Amino acid sequence: MCGIVGYCGVKQASEVLLEGLKRLEYRGYDSAGICVGEGGCLTTVKCKGKIRELRSIVPVDLKGTYGIGHTRWATHGEVNDQNAHPHSDCSGNISIVHNGIIENYSVLKEKLQSDGHVFKSDTDSEVIAHLVSSLYTGDLEKAVKLAAPLLKGTYGIACVHADEPGVIIGARNGSPLVLGIGNDEMFLASDVTAMMSYTRQAVYLEDGEIVRIDAHGYTTSDVTDRAITKKIEHIDWELQEIEKGGFPTYMEKEIFEQPLSVERAMKGRLDKEIATGHLGGLNMTSSELLNVERVKLVATGTSYHAAMVAAYLLETVARIPSTAELSSEVRYKNPVVERNALHFVISQSGETADTLYAMRELQRKGARVLGICNVVGSTIPRESDGGVYIHSGPEIAVASTKAFTSQLTALYLFTLLMARMRHLSFEAGSRILEAIESLPGLIAQVLSNADAIKTVAHKYCAHGNFLFLGRGLNYPVALEGALKLKEISYIHAEGYSAAEIKHGPIALINEETPSMFLVPDDRLRDKVITSMKEVKARKGKIIALAVNGHGDIDEIADDIIYVPKANDILYPFLMVVPLQLFAYYCARKLGRDVDQPRNLAKSVTVE
Ligand code: G6P
Repeated sequence: MCGIVGYCGVKQASEVLLEGLKRLEYRGYDSAGICVGEGGCLTTVKCKGKIRELRSIVPVDLKGTYGIGHTRWATHGEVNDQNAHPHSDCSGNISIVHNGIIENYSVLKEKLQSDGHVFKSDTDSEVIAHLVSSLYTGDLEKAVKLAAPLLKGTYGIACVHADEPGVIIGARNGSPLVLGIGNDEMFLASDVTAMMSYTRQAVYLEDGEIVRIDAHGYTTSDVTDRAITKKIEHIDWELQEIEKGGFPTYMEKEIFEQPLSVERAMKGRLDKEIATGHLGGLNMTSSELLNVERVKLVATGTSYHAAMVAAYLLETVARIPSTAELSSEVRYKNPVVERNALHFVISQSGETADTLYAMRELQRKGARVLGICNVVGSTIPRESDGGVYIHSGPEIAVASTKAFTSQLTALYLFTLLMARMRHLSFEAGSRILEAIESLPGLIAQVLSNADAIKTVAHKYCAHGNFLFLGRGLNYPVALEGALKLKEISYIHAEGYSAAEIKHGPIALINEETPSMFLVPDDRLRDKVITSMKEVKARKGKIIALAVNGHGDIDEIADDIIYVPKANDILYPFLMVVPLQLFAYYCARKLGRDVDQPRNLAKSVTVE
């Protein structure tokens, strides 16, 4: 949420900043701006709109070898030019970009206004520029260190001063900030994608840390001036992973990458000799794992749907009572941490504020919390007590797709591990392991049916309302299908357990409201078909996601999207991929911006 980039070096800063912002655009894209410094003078260019709009107004001859940039996802103040970052103090000598929320901004603003400061925007962020300015006595780093303890809330900040050419000060509290080390150039950004064209050497800042960079190096310290030595980490992602690679959109690329990304999630983690999952990062001994009596999975958005699938699977297969909860709710309910409970937080980005704060609250109460994350080095993996990286590679499209199937893969392996330590036989474990291993091939089969899915999507995309209905392991998948359609096509869609429609949602059924039924070939199939008949009787249109070779659905469904027959537990994978494609083709047909849907952001680092 909100992207920050900073550059000090020898190159034309505006170009580096614009390129970095383009890469960060998925974090927020309602407005953007840059501030470039040259010879004791700062020039700011900013506007409402996307990076391409900003680029069109940045003068090609804008000189300066250092500067800061920002792409915004509005929280305080509407989307307009003035509220776009960077923000400056009254003199225009100080310029800042900010990601996060300053909770006490109105108190600080009143005080600064009474001291004569004049504000130009409605944002909480502008207060930082004026506050730093009021504390500035010739040393920007010192002023930021004095300002930081006065700011309540979350921030990742980058700040420049006209009188200190070539220097950027960064500060972090709750919003990610990473610096990149180049040859005679340094970068600062809210994530590494912004700097990957230039360097693979990164240093991740922790909360409370302040960094000073210039073209030749960096120093890290805290607000009390205590120097902090940081570890330099290598960024493993390849540049082509953050390119579209011939696909028209990132989302399509990421959907079609799933055979590969799921394979990566399981690589080196299938132990055939003892028919179990091998997850090295859990940091738990066998006896600790054996003592687990309850699993609680905490997440939000798409990751929450993965948590719901996993809770169901852990309970039915590993026989461990398990629940999935929304992280935003966990944090404020004064959660009970049971003895022998194991907690998972699941987050693609590893930065989602709701999930991060829920994790910290659980840890404060003594819980052991493991993370299931994609972005290496992000905050949740660094602060959790262990966990699993899903290795999906960068997920750039705002709507999550490949991360979901990789999260499931990791959680299926964990379920297998827990089940095998308890009651599950070697033979039964082997069957599950083989099923998991067959996933990449099965997902590829589903993807080869993309044209048929596109035809169905084009037939139905003019409808304004949809129901998505599934049961058991596939009930959360119905929720995910509805979420995907809402997110990127703006069509209203609701997901329910197919059994629940008779308790209310069936009132919505008419010829205008199609229902997408998930009908895997499992023990609940007949029950789902009964619900389909109830909808049919009320003239509801039905699209069925069903397994090859079952003619009886033909009579009820108006359209059928076929998926391959598989082990029952694999259907969440085989059902979600067609739903991703269905949402995608509907959205494309309706002319939506699928990679950057309106009002959304990829990594929501504010509550
Ligand atoms: C945002 C994104 C969703 C994502 C959710 C959780 O709302 O738009 O696509 O599922 O955050 O993100 P996380 O990174 O924690 O998985």
